[in-house]
Amino acid sequence: MIPEEKISQIRDRASIVEVISDHLTLKKAGRNYLGLCPFHSEKSPSFTVSEEKGIFHCFGCGAGGSVFHFLMQYDHLSFPEAVERVGRRYGIVVERLEAPGARRDTEQRESLYRVNERAAAYFHELLFGHPEGKRALEYLKSRGVDDRVARRFYLGYAPQAGQGLVGFLKREGLSLKDATRLGLISDRGADRYGEKFFGRLIFPIADAAGKVVGFGGRVIGQGLPKYLNSSETPLFHKGATLYGLFQAKETIREKDRLIVVEGYLDVVALSQFGVTDVVATLGTALTPDHVRILARYTKNIIALFDGDEAGRKAAARSFEIFLEGGLLGRGAFLPKGEDPDTFVRSNGKESLEKIIDQAVPLADYYFTWLEERHGRSLEGKSQIAQEINRILAKVRNPFEADLLVRRAVDMLGIRENLLRAPLRASGEARRPAAPGPPASAVQLEAREDMAECSLVALMLRFPSMIQRMEQEAELERLVSPAWNEVLQGIVAQWREQGNVDGARLAQSFSPERASQIAGLILEGEKIAEEDAEKIMGDCIAHLRRRQLRSLQRDLRRAIRIAEEKKDEKTKKERMLEWQEVVRRERQLMRQWAASRTESR
Ligand code: UTP
Ligand code: MN
Repeated sequence: MIPEEKISQIRDRASIVEVISDHLTLKKAGRNYLGLCPFHSEKSPSFTVSEEKGIFHCFGCGAGGSVFHFLMQYDHLSFPEAVERVGRRYGIVVERLEAPGARRDTEQRESLYRVNERAAAYFHELLFGHPEGKRALEYLKSRGVDDRVARRFYLGYAPQAGQGLVGFLKREGLSLKDATRLGLISDRGADRYGEKFFGRLIFPIADAAGKVVGFGGRVIGQGLPKYLNSSETPLFHKGATLYGLFQAKETIREKDRLIVVEGYLDVVALSQFGVTDVVATLGTALTPDHVRILARYTKNIIALFDGDEAGRKAAARSFEIFLEGGLLGRGAFLPKGEDPDTFVRSNGKESLEKIIDQAVPLADYYFTWLEERHGRSLEGKSQIAQEINRILAKVRNPFEADLLVRRAVDMLGIRENLLRAPLRASGEARRPAAPGPPASAVQLEAREDMAECSLVALMLRFPSMIQRMEQEAELERLVSPAWNEVLQGIVAQWREQGNVDGARLAQSFSPERASQIAGLILEGEKIAEEDAEKIMGDCIAHLRRRQLRSLQRDLRRAIRIAEEKKDEKTKKERMLEWQEVVRRERQLMRQWAASRTESR
């Protein structure tokens, strides 16, 4: 926890233009600054920075927020880390309010990291400096890996006769207890230690920030076990770590693409051939946590599989993992029996890129697999429909759900109503009332909360609109809960300090919401004062109408149910209510039309 005053002090002191200019080129354009967005690839600048408002926003991809959000997204920092970083740039020291014991925890972790880092350096230097290290270098060469790539991944060598690392750690004054906790050595008592890795090629495993969290060690040549890996430690969790992410980050950002493979050597070999947006799981299957971590860098993730039977099964199974991680995911398939390393070495980069370009939605493999398992009989199809519905329940994004349903209909000939029915009933998926697919997910969002967005833009631009909003007591029931939070936040700040600081407001919400708010602040600048009142009126009318429409839908459903139950009395009551709501909607529309002609 960082005290609120400290955060404000740093925000006030910092220039968002300066901080962002540390990372990309901004040009002045009118009141704002413009640049090429670092979060998606674009040819003409839509990345906008407002010094005076302390926010940035990309009109291309929707990224945005305060100076802290920029660093959170750009360097994948947590909020406190971003505050510290900006503070440091302006010479403001941040002392975190920490729970008793938290400081000691942090210190202990730092000390563990330090041991890992020094051990990695020790192995790395031996690879290039030790006579025995030659053997490992030769082996790497025989696998097509040169020194430059070995250095890029900070590869190392653990010599055959143990005891080297222990001596090194002692000389460096590092804690052997920490090294034991990290599983690098084992304490045999009487100041004797065993070393985990010896006679192995070492792959240090780093987190996204480049800190060493664990190690993998391969035998040189033949031998078992082929790989030894660090066991789970406070720093190392296999299910949430990806080999090579630190090295791949830049390219992922540039290309907006990411390839997932299985082996350490696949990552290294592909890098040798100039394919550098590659990460590997650590001898475990992909987890939803992996997907969630990777989705922060790009949504365009392609898993690379062996083209054999097992590979296709793995692709089908990984579909559910991707869904749980919030993405649909694609798969690309190498020829049978090849792994990325052997393939790229015998066929070259171009052939590999071709295969990657042909990546197919994992959903397709999943559907094919379902069909193989259950067959095309009526019963089989009903089982398939059940499976798909189970999976659809995990899809958050209604646009993606639509996409899947349509694919299942096309590929498997499953009747659409078998799939959509449970979705509607659960009320999970919000989709537009009109039939037909929306043009894009973005549009769908825009249609749904356009009115809320306009209200927020208005209020952030014109304080008079906040006053007006305060009087609309009922309004908070009309807007969606998520936006109501924002509206209330604006009102609260305005009451408290007589103005609204957009950057401070954005900061109290999730990064997604914050970037929307930043976008709305800039949108708001385009609204002319004389139009404000009218837009406000339109928004409120729209929200009221939306509420009445939803009421009508509920009532129609109730009428249908009463009809099925032959409950005439309820049916009649609901019908009267329905008529009343329809009448209110007509009245609303008349009033609204009248107000429009008046204001002309
Ligand atoms: P592979 O057997 O495909 O290894 O295992 P590889 O990385 O391609 O290495 P080479 O080409 O045989 O030299 C894939 C991954 O599974 C884990 C490792 O993370 C490895 O990179 N693994 C494999 C283990 O953890 N232990 C093992 O004994 C084998
Ligand atoms: Mn291999």
